[in-house]
Amino acid sequence: MSVIELRDVSVTFHERRQTIEAVKHVSLTVEKGEIFGIVGFSGAGKSTLVRVINLLQRPTSGRLLLDGADITDAKGSQLRDIRKRIGFIFQGFNLISNVTVGRNVQFALKAGGWEKSDWDRRTRELLRLVGLENKIDTYPSSLSGGQKQRVAIARALANKPEILLCDEATSALDLETTEEILDLLQRINRELGITIVFITHQLDVAKQVFDRVAVMENGSVVELGDTFDVFSAPKHATTRSLVERYLGIAVPPQLVPSLPAGQIVELRYKGDAALEPLISEVAKRHGVSINVLHANVSYFGPHAIGILIVLVSGGDAAVNAALDELKSHVFGFRKLDRTALAQIHDADGADNEDGTDADDAGNENRGEKETNA
Ligand SMILES: Nc1ncnc2c1ncn2[C@@H]1O[C@H](COP(=O)(O)OP(=O)(O)OP(=O)(O)O)[C@@H](O)[C@H]1O
Ligand SMILES: [Mg+2]
Repeated sequence: MSVIELRDVSVTFHERRQTIEAVKHVSLTVEKGEIFGIVGFSGAGKSTLVRVINLLQRPTSGRLLLDGADITDAKGSQLRDIRKRIGFIFQGFNLISNVTVGRNVQFALKAGGWEKSDWDRRTRELLRLVGLENKIDTYPSSLSGGQKQRVAIARALANKPEILLCDEATSALDLETTEEILDLLQRINRELGITIVFITHQLDVAKQVFDRVAVMENGSVVELGDTFDVFSAPKHATTRSLVERYLGIAVPPQLVPSLPAGQIVELRYKGDAALEPLISEVAKRHGVSINVLHANVSYFGPHAIGILIVLVSGGDAAVNAALDELKSHVFGFRKLDRTALAQIHDADGADNEDGTDADDAGNENRGEKETNA
């Protein structure tokens, strides 16, 4: 049985005279023990969707099931119990600044109904788990970003949740600290068996830790599957655009007009086997010239995927024969349009690379309050 099931969930906001369909007819399941990811550009509806899971956001329509039980209309003590079963961490940590690290954790224990006599033991246990036992009497202001997120994780785990929701939990951290937090979350997933639902717009985070991933665009899930499959052979334009931006796959547009005539193609291949020897063989055999315009190998978990963009020029028949041969050696083959390549493409969400725009701050503020659609 799935731990979480969303059935045809929609969330609509009415703001002044505007209607915003933040989530549209999303159905998906999250299995016990997996790390399930949601990626997408800014405004895609990721935060809204994840807030439905702990009912901080009520769906406008559709149902939410937890361990097979319909909890869409949960209220009062049932709702409190559900919230105990689901921990939540954000980009902005949301620690209480005028009390110590230890007290921050204790507030969660108090809210979870723990006996006061157990608070100290449990707080130390949680802080030890996240590697911060020596910071129990420290105030949040003197902690680094990574340490703050560790405290937030300890607090989120206080009531032994089965599920941990992470909304851009690493987006405010530098590379090294991100790695540490991801390691910690993976350990929590493995050792405590906690199911994790993780939202991010950072593909390097996604490819490293997600078992499965859903790609959201404009309120809908446009692609869903095993992380490697989705990212290595993206089917939807949004997924392709996310992957391309992440891998930095691009032919500099200003270069395109000066390129010799010929067909530009993108080749995707699995494994780290180099394609260069094949390229030169094919070029020789068919009497064409093949220029490599872009090359990249990237690791998704343990798997490597390689992407090459090449320009094949020569006589029409020879070019076609060469392309056919290249096609038979790769799993992804796409002819690229020169005119499109020459345009400086500025896809949506380009200003959100660092995840620190005003929208994100808004989301955090919304984080603690329940809103009714
Ligand atoms: N409480 C709200 N009231 C009105 N509109 C909202 C509310 N929350 C979200 N929205 C709108 O719903 C859409 C989806 O927002 P959401 O925060 O879920 O996107 P997101 O994918 O998390 O984006 P980001 O990557 O920037 O965090 C946006 O258009 C947003 O402005
Ligand atoms: Mg968000």
